[in-house]
Amino acid sequence: MNEKKIVGELAADFIEDGMVVGLGTGSTVYFTIMKLGALVEAGLSIQGIPTSVQTAELAKKLHIPLANMDEVKKIDIAIDGADEVDSHLNLIKGGGGALVREKIVAKAAEKFIVVADPSKMVKTLGAFPLPVEVVPFGAMQTENYIRELQGETKLRLTNGKPFQTDNGNFIIDCSFPSITKPQELECILNNIPGVVDNGLFVGMADRVITIDTGHKPVLL
Ligand code: 5RP
Repeated sequence: MNEKKIVGELAADFIEDGMVVGLGTGSTVYFTIMKLGALVEAGLSIQGIPTSVQTAELAKKLHIPLANMDEVKKIDIAIDGADEVDSHLNLIKGGGGALVREKIVAKAAEKFIVVADPSKMVKTLGAFPLPVEVVPFGAMQTENYIRELQGETKLRLTNGKPFQTDNGNFIIDCSFPSITKPQELECILNNIPGVVDNGLFVGMADRVITIDTGHKPVLL
């Protein structure tokens, strides 16, 4: 049984009629969105706030009504995946390159729920390279500043060209030995000129939905 499908679909249970729902990006929340599509077809009324072009396209295909961030008074709930979740429910996100919009939507939501298969659960963050979104202007210089923090850096490429986010920026994937002080690192990185934001989501997740080895739901 697909673990991402199990946790992704479980999150749909949190959605109630009339809610404004932040729709995350990635292969786990894909299953949440598919389930919401089926529920909308069956009569559920929601408005989705997509965190990426990819998610917006999927939601449109499923006839989930969408709105812009600035068109709604509040977001009731945001649901998204993660690349790593530590024991304090701090996250690394941005494997799919959507971290900036994902953080904006998660922060604005009254409740932020993370869907994570067991492979994402870690004691300490850092085995997954931390995505940092940077503006293209001076990107090499920005990368040098990040490297000075003792991280190994790699400009994300697709087909030999810099990967471009939905915001027209680049992603630098950064391997730090182990991220023991995520809040500190998040602030230090965001203070570097050229950095738009990074994939550390500290103290933002309200609940994490995962499963145990017997595929039973675990709510953290
Ligand atoms: C995209 C993300 C995703 O939520 C994260 O990469 C997890 O993806 P997946 O569910 O495909 O494993 O942060 O920017």
